[in-house]
Amino acid sequence: MTHAVGIDIGGTGIKGAVVNVKTGELVTDRVKLPTPKGGEPDDIVDTVDEVIARLGGLDKKTAVGVCFPAAVVKGVTMSAANVSKAWIGLEAEKLFEKSLKRDIHFTNDADAAGVAEQRFGAARKVKGLVILTTLGTGIGTALIHRGHLVPNAELGHLEIDGHDAETRAAFAAKERENLDWAAWAHRLQTYYERLEALLYPDLFIVGGGVSKNADEFLPLLKLRTPIVAAELRNNAGLLGAAALAAD
Ligand code: BGC
Repeated sequence: MTHAVGIDIGGTGIKGAVVNVKTGELVTDRVKLPTPKGGEPDDIVDTVDEVIARLGGLDKKTAVGVCFPAAVVKGVTMSAANVSKAWIGLEAEKLFEKSLKRDIHFTNDADAAGVAEQRFGAARKVKGLVILTTLGTGIGTALIHRGHLVPNAELGHLEIDGHDAETRAAFAAKERENLDWAAWAHRLQTYYERLEALLYPDLFIVGGGVSKNADEFLPLLKLRTPIVAAELRNNAGLLGAAALAAD
């Protein structure tokens, strides 16, 4: 199988594209619709249906991968930091399968991005531990050790100085509090220092939409671990979701 559909459900937008899972390239334009207010399951499922319709629909053979901002265990969403609490304990994979009338592969969004960077991007040749972080509405993290994903690392929720880290250091916090790059980088410094003190990674990869502005903030960080922008930028999640579905 060469082509698969990847869908990335985020706090602000739901993106989809058909992907070449051998090369990691998009073979269609990316479709993006706003995430429905409140992030309720049925509304999100409807929006995913609409994204797929706009991609030109699906034939029977195309695999579909969906990634979502929550810990996912056996198709069940276990958490819900920036979406409706109705997702907690929900058989999410089954819900999408019922609506799309086909099997899908459902996974955490940061894990999907980590898999994509491991196969096609910045983690490709790294032998040790890679920590991918996505800086968006929340902070997503993926641990890749020697090419293998350790799923559902929720390190965006480390408690630092009495706060859930993502509420201070996600890109949404920068926007909410009108922080300039230097002030935000100061918070990132504290966050990445904590990660390196706990896990001794060989590489940090920074994904999420803001990775396109990496030059504004990565040079301000002083870490012992190399830190680079995601090569696949904000497409990493949907690329990884598609690749996992094709597996
Ligand atoms: C969620 C993670 C998710 C991250 C990025 C966090 O709030 O707990 O599961 O990967 O946001 O979307």
